[in-house]
Amino acid sequence: MTKQEEILQLREELNTHNYNYYVLNKPTISDFEFDAKLRQLQTLENAHPEYFDPNSPTQRVGSDLNTAFVQVEHKYPMLSLANTYSAGEVTDFYERVRKALNDDFEIVCELKYDGSSISLTYEKGALVRAVTRGDGVYGDDVTANVRTIRSIPLKLHGDYPELFEIRGEIVMPWSVFEKLNYEREKQEESLFANPRNAASGTLKLQNSAEVARRQLDAYLYYLLGDKLPADTHYDNLKKASLWGFKISNSMKKCTSLQEVLDYIAYWDTERKNLPIATDGIVLKVNNLNQQKELGYTAKSPRWAIAYKFQAEKACTRLNSVSYQVGRTGAVTPVANLDPVQLSGTVVKRASLHNADIIAGLELYIGDMVYVEKGGEIIPKITAVDKEARFMLGDKVEFIKKCPECGTTLVRNEDEAAHYCPNEDGCPPQIKGKIEHFASRKAMNIEGLGEETIALLYEKGLLHTIADIYDLKVPDLARLERLGTKSARNIKNAVEASKEVPFARVLFALGIRYVGETVAKKLAGAFRSIDALEAATYDELVEVDEIGERIAQSVLNYFAQPEHRQLIERLKAAGLQFETAGENAPVSDKLNGLSIVISGTFVHHSRDEYKALIEQHGGKNISSVSAKANFILAGANMGPAKLEKAQKLGVKIIDENEFLEMIQL
Ligand code: IVH
Repeated sequence: MTKQEEILQLREELNTHNYNYYVLNKPTISDFEFDAKLRQLQTLENAHPEYFDPNSPTQRVGSDLNTAFVQVEHKYPMLSLANTYSAGEVTDFYERVRKALNDDFEIVCELKYDGSSISLTYEKGALVRAVTRGDGVYGDDVTANVRTIRSIPLKLHGDYPELFEIRGEIVMPWSVFEKLNYEREKQEESLFANPRNAASGTLKLQNSAEVARRQLDAYLYYLLGDKLPADTHYDNLKKASLWGFKISNSMKKCTSLQEVLDYIAYWDTERKNLPIATDGIVLKVNNLNQQKELGYTAKSPRWAIAYKFQAEKACTRLNSVSYQVGRTGAVTPVANLDPVQLSGTVVKRASLHNADIIAGLELYIGDMVYVEKGGEIIPKITAVDKEARFMLGDKVEFIKKCPECGTTLVRNEDEAAHYCPNEDGCPPQIKGKIEHFASRKAMNIEGLGEETIALLYEKGLLHTIADIYDLKVPDLARLERLGTKSARNIKNAVEASKEVPFARVLFALGIRYVGETVAKKLAGAFRSIDALEAATYDELVEVDEIGERIAQSVLNYFAQPEHRQLIERLKAAGLQFETAGENAPVSDKLNGLSIVISGTFVHHSRDEYKALIEQHGGKNISSVSAKANFILAGANMGPAKLEKAQKLGVKIIDENEFLEMIQL
């Protein structure tokens, strides 16, 4: 691989992780791994300035923009902090500050709360706005939700400034987090991996009453404004606590490096007794004039850094490895362990991911293994204590045949996972597909949960999703545990599912890589299952956000006669296979026009603009090419797009011009 290819690959990888973390709230790697990759990229970019790209992940601070909220520009950008992982790096920071200031200074040490950052604006002592970090420049206005957080004062008392901002972290206490996940498990909803995801997921809910029930908490740690009461960070926060804000009392002023290191060592263990999640310590130069003197880099202040705690590890015995087959046929190896305590919960199972990971660890049954919690719900095995080996069992080798149906497993060239290819004959795949189809976000057939599906499958009443629509009340009522009343309820829910809109039906089909969002895009672009089935590869990839992998998967799905028969049966049952309602055409003012959207907007979200384009007969395309008729540009349009547009002479219009264009 050339250096340029390496850089491009790292950028793409980091962009995906940024998206998983900030947009989906579902990180797949630890912060440590992410930071290591980011540094690797930074080093390569430093060595090769000829490959500079203003859109590189090293040039920005991430994005959590949620299109459902109004986007607001931050008065002061919300920067992130540089991370450090060792006493050595903390010492380097301390020395850097000492040299730069050439004067006495104090460092304020604080806990680094692991939640979702928020900026609160107060005018005349009243909360007027609460905005998430977003991409650091624009954030989402989540005031309605934040108002429900009881530790955030709506009215202040004392001698507060007329206008100021205060920033802090919205957190979900461990106890609330555990209760929430317990409830979600009972409702068969997906679990939150950690309190941070639960807190940011909650902040983005559309229903603030539900937010209120979730019992979020908030710690404030940064005061900003033109007229602040004191000239040190510490005194400002102390003042703020008098106005009614929750300021942590673990904050400490230090006058020597040793004091800083002692603080870190103390909280490294003591944090485990806190009711909320913390992931490090933040060090800030106390004096505001000295802060100003030190200034900022493009991404973070030079007057502050974060020290990140090592992920907690536990050592325990590997008893066996089991293999789970999911609805897509992917086979996941899971380690069964002696129960062990790790970051507040008991761990009995850990993910082994795939065959390569198992081979890399060189595992034997009976090995003592280290488990760690990453971003995922299930902890992972990170290492083996080879020194502790004694009376080992068999070497762990990835299975060759499906544990459920005996079919020989396959592995695609570019993928790490093994699959059972027996899609229509492997029991967990059949049941998994039906469960997915009936689930709340898909067809929402209440009463048709995992157990009932398993029962119906065993009795031979359910074999494919289309069989659901042939179920009769007496068949259901005869099942153990199911009376006539429940049977009727299920039948009613099955009938009601015939009204579920096309986009969700498409998602419910369980086509590989066609998740909720992709299904919406495809349903919006093709508007009917017949048009989607007839679409060519080129037509598919032309749709905004549809890449090669998805396009190929859609083609593969429709290439199978069983799938086309299945759809015919579902059509006959009366399901919605055409886009209607809100996406219905409003006018033909944009007929035949291909439009690229770029940047952030004031009047509507990006997704709303995309919907408007489709409603008025236009087509959303993702990249600037000669095919584009114009670009709808908001603030911060990507410079690469801008340059390309100018080169190709593609017209750029702003949102006001666009709204005038489609006015009826
Ligand atoms: S100060 C300009 N203090 O960590 C500096 N941040 O990577 C502003 N965080 O985005 C941040 N606890 O979400 C600061 N005591 C603390 C913090 C803290 C948690 C978060 C915050 C920030 C991120 C920095």
